[in-house]
Amino acid sequence: MNNFQYYNPVRIVFGEGQIKELANLVPTNARVLITYGGGSAKRSGTLDEVKNALNDGDNSRVVFEFGGIEPNPEFTTLMKAADMVNENDIDFILAVGGGSVIDGSKFVALTAHLKEADGTVSRDQAWAALTSYAQDIDSAIDLGAVLTIPATGSEMNSGGVINYSERQAKLPFGNPLAYPKFSILDPVKTLTLPERQVMNGVADAFVHVMEQYLTYPVDAKVQDAFSESLLKILISEGKAVKANPDDLEVRKNIMWTATMALNGLIGTGVPQDWTTHMIGHELTSLYGIDHARTLTIILPSLMRELKDTKKDKLLQYARHVWHINADDQDDDTVIESAIVCTENFFKELGLPIKFTDADLDDTAIDPIVAQLKAHGMTALGEHQSNDLEVSRRILQRAARS
Ligand code: NZQ
Ligand code: ZN
Repeated sequence: MNNFQYYNPVRIVFGEGQIKELANLVPTNARVLITYGGGSAKRSGTLDEVKNALNDGDNSRVVFEFGGIEPNPEFTTLMKAADMVNENDIDFILAVGGGSVIDGSKFVALTAHLKEADGTVSRDQAWAALTSYAQDIDSAIDLGAVLTIPATGSEMNSGGVINYSERQAKLPFGNPLAYPKFSILDPVKTLTLPERQVMNGVADAFVHVMEQYLTYPVDAKVQDAFSESLLKILISEGKAVKANPDDLEVRKNIMWTATMALNGLIGTGVPQDWTTHMIGHELTSLYGIDHARTLTIILPSLMRELKDTKKDKLLQYARHVWHINADDQDDDTVIESAIVCTENFFKELGLPIKFTDADLDDTAIDPIVAQLKAHGMTALGEHQSNDLEVSRRILQRAARS
């Protein structure tokens, strides 16, 4: 196991009816900006529930709202929210939604103080922060979250991903000041999700675990066993939620698993490989494909392309997660079986596993590789050896499979 420091200050408040806890979690004298997405939080009544909880009788919190944060949150929209923060002296941002709203709110929290002389937020400085120095920003507005879709882990991590359509860029950022002070996880809130979003969430969490697990062994027994457990739970609960979407116990397990998948714990002291995500971001920004669906398209081809460097972990994955008996089979056969199991699982959840499933063909490869180059994604993976040629070969496999 490699050396590590583990720090995660996020208070998780989990369970049915826990939105009422906002009354205790948000400072009573705060000027609060509630941020939300395209309207699901309004339609489901969650937004009203949040506002009621904030107005707990002493009326001392001043509450503003900013709606319309898109899936794959748009830089330009977030800058409007950041201006609103300054115009109203906001000192607490409460994100109500999924990864997009929480990520976007983290970015607002980090960039609102980057002001021009006229008091508006400097778009140039915020863009520069996203592309280079977000990790060095040393002040941010406090943030809390009410999670409505289990998927990204944003509710318990310090990162985010921002989309800037005009620049065809979807870029990650991270800063310890972006950890939410708390996140409320009420599984009942996930019952209104369309099936597509539920499955996207299961797949996103699955790939998060894989990117922290499928590298090479460093004898990290805790991280490996936790990862394998999370994968097995996602497989069983993913199938269960498809069969019984109203089963609250299943929803609870999916919600907590998705949080655990990317709160830093399983990634401590182990090599990581975020190649699938980095290629996936380019598919979203160029072709508008849902985040999770880009991942299920890329991962199987990545596993095949990198089966030699990832051989030991792929064999472990086959044995421990899919229970493939390796006794009288050669390694390649075992690994291929595990990849096919992974593909079948994704297919069972209605997710794409190759270009044609998402109406893409091989003409997409050159633009994706060009964007990877433009965004400096030229040395990815646990050995930084996934250069543009490796990414191209992964894409070619996804295009011809
Ligand atoms: O916008 P609204 O109307 O709220 O609708 C949303 C949106 O259309 C809807 N939704 C959310 N909760 C709902 C609901 N509909 C009905 N009932 C509910 N309870 O679901 C749609 C998708 O929402 P979104 O927030 O985009 O989904 P998700 O949580 O999957 O977030 C995806 C974003 O997170 C980034 C992705 O790149 C993408 O931009 N990621 C963030 C990460 C992080 N911070 O650590 C890591 C991930 O790898 C990921 O990259
Ligand atoms: Zn993801």
